[in-house]
Amino acid sequence: MPSSGSAPLMGRPVSISGLGAYVPEKVVTNDDLAAVLDTSDQWIKERTGIAERRMVDQGECSSDLGIVAGREALVDARIDPQCIELVITATISPDRIMPATASRVALECGCRNAGAYDLSAGCSGFIYALAMAAGAVAGGLHEHVLVVGAEALSRITDQQDRATAVLFGDGAGAVVVSPSDGVGGRILGFDLGNDGSGEELLTVPAGGSRLPASCSTVEKRQHFIKMNGKGVFKFATRVVAESAGRVLERCGFDVDDVDLFVLHQANLRIIDSAAVKLGIPGRKVYTNVQRYGNTSCASIPLCLRDARAEGRLKPGDRVLLVGFGAGLTWGACLMEWGGPRAVSNGRE
Ligand code: UT7
Repeated sequence: MPSSGSAPLMGRPVSISGLGAYVPEKVVTNDDLAAVLDTSDQWIKERTGIAERRMVDQGECSSDLGIVAGREALVDARIDPQCIELVITATISPDRIMPATASRVALECGCRNAGAYDLSAGCSGFIYALAMAAGAVAGGLHEHVLVVGAEALSRITDQQDRATAVLFGDGAGAVVVSPSDGVGGRILGFDLGNDGSGEELLTVPAGGSRLPASCSTVEKRQHFIKMNGKGVFKFATRVVAESAGRVLERCGFDVDDVDLFVLHQANLRIIDSAAVKLGIPGRKVYTNVQRYGNTSCASIPLCLRDARAEGRLKPGDRVLLVGFGAGLTWGACLMEWGGPRAVSNGRE
Protein backbone atom coordinates (compact mmCIF):
# COMPACT_ATOMS: atom_id res chain seq x y z
CA MET A 1 0.00 0.00 0.00
CA PRO A 2 1.47 3.41 -0.94
CA SER A 3 2.05 5.74 2.00
CA SER A 4 0.82 9.32 2.36
CA GLY A 5 2.16 12.85 2.18
CA SER A 6 1.83 14.02 5.74
CA ALA A 7 2.97 17.39 7.06
CA PRO A 8 2.27 20.21 9.50
CA LEU A 9 1.07 23.37 7.74
CA MET A 10 3.94 25.87 7.45
CA GLY A 11 3.80 29.58 6.62
CA ARG A 12 1.44 32.14 8.13
CA PRO A 13 -1.33 30.80 10.41
CA VAL A 14 -4.52 29.88 8.58
CA SER A 15 -8.00 29.13 9.87
CA ILE A 16 -11.57 28.43 8.81
CA SER A 17 -13.29 31.81 9.01
CA GLY A 18 -16.77 30.79 7.87
CA LEU A 19 -18.97 27.74 7.57
CA GLY A 20 -22.17 26.95 5.70
CA ALA A 21 -24.21 23.94 4.57
CA TYR A 22 -27.39 23.09 2.75
CA VAL A 23 -29.46 19.99 2.03
CA PRO A 24 -32.41 19.73 -0.36
CA GLU A 25 -35.87 19.62 1.20
CA LYS A 26 -36.99 16.24 -0.09
CA VAL A 27 -36.51 13.49 2.52
CA VAL A 28 -36.28 9.86 1.40
CA THR A 29 -36.73 7.40 4.27
CA ASN A 30 -35.64 3.77 4.38
CA ASP A 31 -39.30 2.77 4.15
CA ASP A 32 -39.65 4.84 0.96
CA LEU A 33 -36.79 2.79 -0.54
CA ALA A 34 -38.14 -0.50 0.79
CA ALA A 35 -41.36 0.24 -1.09
CA VAL A 36 -39.52 0.06 -4.44
CA LEU A 37 -36.42 -2.06 -3.71
CA ASP A 38 -35.73 -5.45 -2.14
CA THR A 39 -34.46 -3.94 1.12
CA SER A 40 -35.74 -3.00 4.58
CA ASP A 41 -35.41 -0.27 7.19
CA GLN A 42 -33.90 -2.85 9.53
CA TRP A 43 -31.19 -3.96 7.04
CA ILE A 44 -30.19 -0.40 6.17
CA LYS A 45 -30.05 0.74 9.81
CA GLU A 46 -28.14 -2.33 11.00
CA ARG A 47 -25.58 -2.30 8.16
CA THR A 48 -25.11 1.45 7.73
CA GLY A 49 -26.82 3.44 10.50
CA ILE A 50 -28.71 5.46 7.88
CA ALA A 51 -32.37 6.30 8.58
CA GLU A 52 -33.02 8.84 5.82
CA ARG A 53 -31.30 10.95 3.19
CA ARG A 54 -32.08 14.06 1.12
CA MET A 55 -32.66 14.11 -2.62
CA VAL A 56 -32.55 16.93 -5.17
CA ASP A 57 -35.66 17.92 -7.10
CA GLN A 58 -36.09 17.62 -10.84
CA GLY A 59 -33.69 20.09 -12.49
CA GLU A 60 -31.66 20.72 -9.31
CA CYS A 61 -27.91 20.00 -9.55
CA SER A 62 -24.77 20.03 -7.40
CA SER A 63 -23.97 23.70 -7.96
CA ASP A 64 -27.48 24.71 -6.80
CA LEU A 65 -26.72 23.15 -3.43
CA GLY A 66 -23.14 24.42 -3.32
CA ILE A 67 -24.21 27.99 -4.03
CA VAL A 68 -26.52 28.08 -0.98
CA ALA A 69 -23.83 26.56 1.24
CA GLY A 70 -21.16 28.89 -0.18
CA ARG A 71 -23.25 32.02 0.40
CA GLU A 72 -23.90 30.95 3.99
CA ALA A 73 -20.18 30.41 4.59
CA LEU A 74 -19.38 33.88 3.22
CA VAL A 75 -21.97 35.52 5.49
CA ASP A 76 -20.65 33.50 8.42
CA ALA A 77 -17.10 34.67 7.67
CA ARG A 78 -18.34 38.27 7.28
CA ILE A 79 -16.29 38.51 4.11
CA ASP A 80 -17.26 40.46 1.02
CA PRO A 81 -17.54 37.81 -1.75
CA GLN A 82 -15.38 40.05 -3.94
CA CYS A 83 -12.48 39.46 -1.53
CA ILE A 84 -12.49 35.73 -2.32
CA GLU A 85 -9.56 35.00 -4.64
CA LEU A 86 -10.18 31.31 -5.35
CA VAL A 87 -13.20 28.99 -5.31
CA ILE A 88 -12.57 25.23 -5.17
CA THR A 89 -15.53 22.89 -5.54
CA ALA A 90 -14.89 19.32 -4.44
CA THR A 91 -17.40 16.97 -6.05
CA ILE A 92 -17.87 13.54 -7.62
CA SER A 93 -21.18 14.63 -9.16
CA PRO A 94 -20.22 17.79 -11.07
CA ASP A 95 -22.91 19.63 -13.05
CA ARG A 96 -21.01 18.77 -16.23
CA ILE A 97 -17.61 17.37 -17.27
CA MET A 98 -16.83 20.91 -18.36
CA PRO A 99 -16.88 23.70 -17.40
CA ALA A 100 -16.10 23.28 -13.73
CA THR A 101 -19.02 23.40 -11.30
CA ALA A 102 -16.90 25.88 -9.34
CA SER A 103 -17.30 28.45 -12.14
CA ARG A 104 -21.05 28.68 -11.55
CA VAL A 105 -20.65 28.49 -7.76
CA ALA A 106 -18.21 31.44 -7.89
CA LEU A 107 -20.50 33.47 -10.15
CA GLU A 108 -23.63 32.92 -8.07
CA CYS A 109 -21.80 33.50 -4.79
CA GLY A 110 -20.61 36.87 -6.10
CA CYS A 111 -16.92 35.88 -6.10
CA ARG A 112 -16.15 38.01 -9.15
CA ASN A 113 -12.43 38.33 -8.42
CA ALA A 114 -11.76 34.65 -7.94
CA GLY A 115 -10.25 31.82 -9.95
CA ALA A 116 -12.35 28.66 -9.84
CA TYR A 117 -11.77 24.95 -10.34
CA ASP A 118 -13.19 21.56 -9.42
CA LEU A 119 -11.29 19.01 -7.43
CA SER A 120 -11.95 15.30 -7.90
CA ALA A 121 -10.59 12.98 -5.20
CA GLY A 122 -13.58 10.78 -4.40
CA CYS A 123 -15.15 11.30 -1.00
CA SER A 124 -11.78 12.65 0.25
CA GLY A 125 -12.32 15.66 -2.02
CA PHE A 126 -13.26 18.08 0.75
CA ILE A 127 -10.08 17.35 2.75
CA TYR A 128 -7.95 17.63 -0.40
CA ALA A 129 -9.60 20.96 -1.32
CA LEU A 130 -9.12 22.24 2.23
CA ALA A 131 -5.43 21.31 2.00
CA MET A 132 -5.03 23.15 -1.32
CA ALA A 133 -6.80 26.22 0.09
CA ALA A 134 -4.86 26.19 3.36
CA GLY A 135 -1.54 25.83 1.53
CA ALA A 136 -2.39 28.69 -0.84
CA VAL A 137 -3.37 31.04 2.01
CA ALA A 138 -0.47 29.99 4.27
CA GLY A 139 2.02 30.62 1.44
CA GLY A 140 0.52 34.02 0.58
CA LEU A 141 -0.74 33.07 -2.90
CA HIS A 142 -4.31 33.90 -1.89
CA GLU A 143 -5.94 35.82 0.94
CA HIS A 144 -9.37 34.17 1.19
CA VAL A 145 -10.47 30.92 -0.48
CA LEU A 146 -13.99 29.47 -0.63
CA VAL A 147 -14.03 25.66 -0.45
CA VAL A 148 -17.32 23.99 -1.36
CA GLY A 149 -18.21 20.30 -1.20
CA ALA A 150 -21.34 19.79 -3.29
CA GLU A 151 -23.05 16.59 -4.35
CA ALA A 152 -26.20 15.59 -6.20
CA LEU A 153 -25.31 11.90 -5.86
CA SER A 154 -28.86 10.74 -6.57
CA ARG A 155 -28.16 11.78 -10.18
CA ILE A 156 -25.34 9.24 -10.54
CA THR A 157 -26.81 6.53 -8.31
CA ASP A 158 -28.67 3.60 -9.87
CA GLN A 159 -31.99 3.74 -8.03
CA GLN A 160 -32.54 0.09 -9.04
CA ASP A 161 -29.33 -1.09 -7.33
CA ARG A 162 -30.06 -1.75 -3.66
CA ALA A 163 -26.33 -2.05 -2.90
CA THR A 164 -25.79 1.67 -3.58
CA ALA A 165 -29.24 3.31 -3.67
CA VAL A 166 -29.65 3.04 0.09
CA LEU A 167 -26.29 4.65 0.86
CA PHE A 168 -26.01 7.95 -0.94
CA GLY A 169 -27.66 11.32 -0.31
CA ASP A 170 -27.49 14.86 -1.68
CA GLY A 171 -26.14 17.95 0.07
CA ALA A 172 -23.46 20.62 0.25
CA GLY A 173 -21.12 22.22 2.75
CA ALA A 174 -18.69 25.10 2.48
CA VAL A 175 -15.92 26.84 4.39
CA VAL A 176 -13.95 30.04 3.91
CA VAL A 177 -10.21 29.66 4.50
CA SER A 178 -8.45 32.86 5.62
CA PRO A 179 -5.34 34.04 7.45
CA SER A 180 -5.89 33.31 11.15
CA ASP A 181 -7.14 36.40 12.98
CA GLY A 182 -5.65 35.29 16.26
CA VAL A 183 -8.93 34.35 17.96
CA GLY A 184 -7.69 30.81 18.34
CA GLY A 185 -8.52 29.08 15.10
CA ARG A 186 -5.66 27.45 13.23
CA ILE A 187 -5.26 24.64 10.72
CA LEU A 188 -2.36 22.52 11.96
CA GLY A 189 -1.61 19.93 9.29
CA PHE A 190 -2.71 17.37 6.72
CA ASP A 191 -2.15 13.78 5.62
CA LEU A 192 -3.14 13.02 2.01
CA GLY A 193 -2.83 9.61 0.35
CA ASN A 194 -3.80 7.59 -2.71
CA ASP A 195 -3.73 3.98 -3.89
CA GLY A 196 -4.67 3.86 -7.57
CA SER A 197 -4.72 0.06 -7.58
CA GLY A 198 -8.17 0.30 -5.98
CA GLU A 199 -9.67 2.11 -8.99
CA GLU A 200 -12.29 -0.55 -9.74
CA LEU A 201 -13.61 -0.78 -6.18
CA LEU A 202 -15.58 2.45 -6.52
CA THR A 203 -16.17 4.00 -9.92
CA VAL A 204 -18.54 5.48 -12.47
CA PRO A 205 -17.27 3.40 -15.42
CA ALA A 206 -18.55 5.42 -18.40
CA GLY A 207 -18.82 9.00 -19.57
CA GLY A 208 -15.13 9.86 -19.53
CA SER A 209 -12.42 9.39 -22.16
CA ARG A 210 -11.85 5.73 -21.34
CA LEU A 211 -15.44 4.66 -21.99
CA PRO A 212 -17.31 7.49 -23.70
CA ALA A 213 -21.10 7.63 -23.55
CA SER A 214 -22.86 5.36 -26.05
CA CYS A 215 -26.15 3.50 -26.33
CA SER A 216 -24.34 0.47 -24.91
CA THR A 217 -23.02 2.31 -21.81
CA VAL A 218 -26.51 3.62 -21.12
CA GLU A 219 -28.09 0.17 -21.56
CA LYS A 220 -25.50 -1.34 -19.22
CA ARG A 221 -26.16 1.41 -16.66
CA GLN A 222 -22.45 2.30 -16.66
CA HIS A 223 -23.03 5.97 -15.92
CA PHE A 224 -23.97 5.09 -12.35
CA ILE A 225 -21.76 4.44 -9.31
CA LYS A 226 -20.48 0.84 -9.15
CA MET A 227 -19.07 -0.22 -5.82
CA ASN A 228 -17.48 -3.25 -4.23
CA GLY A 229 -18.87 -2.45 -0.79
CA LYS A 230 -16.88 -5.04 1.13
CA GLY A 231 -13.59 -3.96 -0.51
CA VAL A 232 -14.20 -0.30 0.29
CA PHE A 233 -15.29 -1.17 3.82
CA LYS A 234 -12.06 -3.09 4.49
CA PHE A 235 -9.93 -0.28 3.05
CA ALA A 236 -11.81 2.41 4.99
CA THR A 237 -11.61 0.79 8.41
CA ARG A 238 -7.84 0.46 8.03
CA VAL A 239 -6.97 3.76 6.41
CA VAL A 240 -8.98 6.09 8.67
CA ALA A 241 -7.07 5.03 11.77
CA GLU A 242 -3.70 5.10 9.96
CA SER A 243 -4.21 8.54 8.41
CA ALA A 244 -5.50 10.02 11.67
CA GLY A 245 -2.52 8.60 13.53
CA ARG A 246 -0.05 10.03 10.99
CA VAL A 247 -1.36 13.60 11.03
CA LEU A 248 -1.50 13.59 14.83
CA GLU A 249 2.09 12.35 15.06
CA ARG A 250 3.42 14.84 12.51
CA CYS A 251 1.72 17.73 14.31
CA GLY A 252 2.95 16.56 17.72
CA PHE A 253 -0.37 15.57 19.26
CA ASP A 254 -1.98 12.46 20.67
CA VAL A 255 -5.50 11.04 20.24
CA ASP A 256 -6.33 12.27 23.76
CA ASP A 257 -5.56 15.87 22.68
CA VAL A 258 -8.48 15.83 20.23
CA ASP A 259 -11.86 17.20 21.33
CA LEU A 260 -13.94 16.21 18.30
CA PHE A 261 -13.49 13.60 15.55
CA VAL A 262 -15.35 14.16 12.28
CA LEU A 263 -14.98 11.25 9.88
CA HIS A 264 -16.46 10.98 6.40
CA GLN A 265 -20.05 9.83 6.93
CA ALA A 266 -20.15 6.67 4.81
CA ASN A 267 -21.32 4.10 7.30
CA LEU A 268 -21.75 4.14 11.08
CA ARG A 269 -19.96 0.78 11.31
CA ILE A 270 -16.85 2.21 9.60
CA ILE A 271 -16.91 5.19 11.98
CA ASP A 272 -17.38 2.96 15.06
CA SER A 273 -14.60 0.61 13.96
CA ALA A 274 -12.16 3.49 13.35
CA ALA A 275 -13.04 4.99 16.74
CA VAL A 276 -12.32 1.68 18.47
CA LYS A 277 -8.98 1.29 16.61
CA LEU A 278 -7.93 4.79 17.62
CA GLY A 279 -9.27 4.44 21.17
CA ILE A 280 -11.63 7.40 20.85
CA PRO A 281 -14.59 7.57 23.24
CA GLY A 282 -17.97 7.76 21.47
CA ARG A 283 -18.79 11.15 23.01
CA LYS A 284 -15.94 12.71 20.98
CA VAL A 285 -17.17 11.34 17.64
CA TYR A 286 -19.71 13.39 15.70
CA THR A 287 -22.11 11.63 13.30
CA ASN A 288 -25.08 12.69 11.19
CA VAL A 289 -25.01 9.87 8.61
CA GLN A 290 -28.32 8.82 10.17
CA ARG A 291 -30.01 11.92 8.68
CA TYR A 292 -28.16 12.47 5.40
CA GLY A 293 -26.59 9.16 4.31
CA ASN A 294 -23.27 9.35 2.48
CA THR A 295 -22.99 12.80 0.88
CA SER A 296 -19.38 12.29 -0.27
CA CYS A 297 -17.56 15.65 -0.47
CA ALA A 298 -20.32 17.38 1.50
CA SER A 299 -20.31 15.07 4.50
CA ILE A 300 -17.50 16.63 6.56
CA PRO A 301 -18.58 20.31 6.28
CA LEU A 302 -22.20 19.20 6.90
CA CYS A 303 -20.98 17.61 10.14
CA LEU A 304 -19.05 20.74 11.14
CA ARG A 305 -22.13 22.93 10.58
CA ASP A 306 -24.42 20.60 12.56
CA ALA A 307 -21.87 20.02 15.33
CA ARG A 308 -21.44 23.76 15.81
CA ALA A 309 -25.21 24.32 15.82
CA GLU A 310 -25.60 21.60 18.48
CA GLY A 311 -22.84 23.07 20.68
CA ARG A 312 -20.53 20.10 20.03
CA LEU A 313 -17.93 22.27 18.22
CA LYS A 314 -16.67 25.21 20.26
CA PRO A 315 -13.94 27.84 19.90
CA GLY A 316 -10.60 26.38 20.95
CA ASP A 317 -11.61 22.77 20.28
CA ARG A 318 -8.99 20.62 18.57
CA VAL A 319 -10.73 18.84 15.69
CA LEU A 320 -9.60 15.90 13.57
CA LEU A 321 -11.21 15.41 10.15
CA VAL A 322 -10.71 12.23 8.10
CA GLY A 323 -12.03 11.44 4.63
CA PHE A 324 -11.69 8.40 2.36
CA GLY A 325 -13.14 7.23 -0.92
CA ALA A 326 -12.75 6.53 -4.62
CA GLY A 327 -9.24 6.50 -6.02
CA LEU A 328 -8.71 5.00 -3.56
CA THR A 329 -7.90 8.19 -1.67
CA TRP A 330 -7.75 9.29 1.93
CA GLY A 331 -7.01 12.49 3.79
CA ALA A 332 -6.86 13.80 7.35
CA CYS A 333 -6.70 17.33 8.74
CA LEU A 334 -5.99 18.49 12.28
CA MET A 335 -7.13 21.96 13.33
CA GLU A 336 -8.02 24.21 16.22
CA TRP A 337 -11.48 25.66 15.78
CA GLY A 338 -11.74 29.45 15.90
CA GLY A 339 -14.10 31.87 17.58
CA PRO A 340 -16.37 34.49 16.04
CA ARG A 341 -14.50 36.49 13.44
CA ALA A 342 -14.01 40.26 13.37
CA VAL A 343 -15.39 42.06 10.30
CA SER A 344 -13.03 41.64 7.39
CA ASN A 345 -13.48 43.21 4.02
CA GLY A 346 -10.27 42.58 2.23
CA ARG A 347 -6.57 41.83 2.39
CA GLU A 348 -5.30 41.92 5.93
O1 UT7 B 1 -17.79 7.03 0.62
C1 UT7 B 1 -17.06 5.87 0.48
C2 UT7 B 1 -17.83 4.90 -0.29
N1 UT7 B 1 -18.53 3.84 0.26
C3 UT7 B 1 -18.37 3.18 1.41
O2 UT7 B 1 -17.66 3.52 2.29
C4 UT7 B 1 -19.15 1.91 1.55
C5 UT7 B 1 -18.37 0.84 2.27
N2 UT7 B 1 -19.12 -0.39 2.39
C6 UT7 B 1 -20.21 -0.53 3.16
O3 UT7 B 1 -20.65 0.42 3.80
C7 UT7 B 1 -20.86 -1.88 3.27
O4 UT7 B 1 -20.05 -2.84 2.63
C8 UT7 B 1 -22.30 -1.93 2.68
C9 UT7 B 1 -23.25 -1.15 3.55
C10 UT7 B 1 -22.30 -1.37 1.27
C11 UT7 B 1 -22.78 -3.38 2.63
O5 UT7 B 1 -22.72 -3.96 3.93
P1 UT7 B 1 -22.09 -5.40 4.14
O6 UT7 B 1 -22.23 -5.74 5.55
O7 UT7 B 1 -20.70 -5.38 3.55
O8 UT7 B 1 -23.07 -6.29 3.29
P2 UT7 B 1 -22.73 -7.26 2.06
O9 UT7 B 1 -22.38 -6.49 0.85
O10 UT7 B 1 -21.81 -8.35 2.52
O11 UT7 B 1 -24.14 -7.94 1.84
C12 UT7 B 1 -24.73 -8.81 2.81
C13 UT7 B 1 -26.04 -9.32 2.26
C14 UT7 B 1 -25.93 -9.86 0.83
O12 UT7 B 1 -26.83 -10.93 0.71
P3 UT7 B 1 -26.32 -12.48 0.83
O13 UT7 B 1 -25.31 -12.62 -0.25
O14 UT7 B 1 -25.74 -12.59 2.21
O15 UT7 B 1 -27.56 -13.26 0.63
C15 UT7 B 1 -26.40 -8.72 -0.02
O16 UT7 B 1 -26.94 -9.16 -1.26
O17 UT7 B 1 -26.97 -8.22 2.18
C16 UT7 B 1 -27.48 -8.12 0.84
N3 UT7 B 1 -27.74 -6.72 0.57
C17 UT7 B 1 -28.87 -6.12 0.94
N4 UT7 B 1 -29.96 -6.59 1.57
C18 UT7 B 1 -30.94 -5.71 1.81
C19 UT7 B 1 -26.92 -5.81 -0.03
N5 UT7 B 1 -27.53 -4.61 -0.06
C20 UT7 B 1 -28.74 -4.78 0.53
C21 UT7 B 1 -29.80 -3.90 0.82
N6 UT7 B 1 -30.87 -4.41 1.45
N7 UT7 B 1 -29.77 -2.59 0.48
